[in-house]
Amino acid sequence: TTHTVTVEPIGRQIACREDQNLLDACLRNGIWMPHSCTHGTCATCKADLLDGDVDHGDASAFALMDFERTEGKLLLCQACPRSDVTIEGDIEAEEGLEFSPVRDFVGTVTEISDIARETRLVRIGLDSPMEFSAGQYVSITVPGQDCTRTYSMANPPSQPEAIELNIRRTPGGLASDGWVFKNLAVGDQVELSGPYGRFVFRPAREEKVIMIAGGTGLAPILSMIRHILSDPSTTHELHLFQGARQEVDLYAVEELRSLAAQHPDRLHYYPCLSDEEWDGPRGLVTEVLDEQFDRLREHVAYVCGPPPMVQAATKLLMRKRLFPRDIFHEDFFDES
Ligand code: FES
Repeated sequence: TTHTVTVEPIGRQIACREDQNLLDACLRNGIWMPHSCTHGTCATCKADLLDGDVDHGDASAFALMDFERTEGKLLLCQACPRSDVTIEGDIEAEEGLEFSPVRDFVGTVTEISDIARETRLVRIGLDSPMEFSAGQYVSITVPGQDCTRTYSMANPPSQPEAIELNIRRTPGGLASDGWVFKNLAVGDQVELSGPYGRFVFRPAREEKVIMIAGGTGLAPILSMIRHILSDPSTTHELHLFQGARQEVDLYAVEELRSLAAQHPDRLHYYPCLSDEEWDGPRGLVTEVLDEQFDRLREHVAYVCGPPPMVQAATKLLMRKRLFPRDIFHEDFFDES
């Protein structure tokens, strides 16, 4: 059975099945709602039920208290409609930003290659092109396991037929160690959905751009750089700080060096090593950035990497006078 969901304050009407949660229905219709865990525990997706009945699913008693249920609150990632409903959520519309609807895809692995220590590039051809914005990610079902993993696209949106993922091995990890680095092979089929995420390039912000990436957190930033430098309508000047421990951990270096050589006024590239002497910048990304820039007014920053790096980078950027509205970031867990 399918019900009609009216989404306020925009007044859009979408369809939602009884076995589908409201968050999924919104995302698949291109309506972005705040969310994080998608398991009913974080409460990021809390919204108002203005009219109609829902099944609250597995909403935890902490994320959604009894009195809130009575007051007409729900968790979008858990609630499924039992009648036509009207809901109201925190739809933050940001000018110039549009999100493509989430869809399901079947992919076929076309390439697996080692690109750095414990790091693989996996390329997946899709059964239909995926529209997305540079910086977004997909959710892949791990075969034989009842779970999914998320990975950012490293390819630019202008190449929608196949996605490139950069995956680092986590020892003992169910998905990376138990699948991607074990038995994943060219020709395998995978099920995935996407695109997700709000860590996207904002073309309307024309200030100079600082990009900070740690490990495979480079993937979404690589998608942005490939997109920006090949799109004649953008003129942004980019400063990329890529962090790794040792030279064997760095990837995409040759491509980035050659892009920087081709676009000397547009891309300034600082690959930084924290644990090894070499002929490039030495230190943590934050240390190298600190030396390069005195003050950072009139810049926009995109930061992606392990949570401690993202925190340290955000702190430094704010010390250099950027505001939270100038800093976009994504925590990138090299999760299992
Ligand atoms: Fe965390 Fe719904 S997204 S509770």
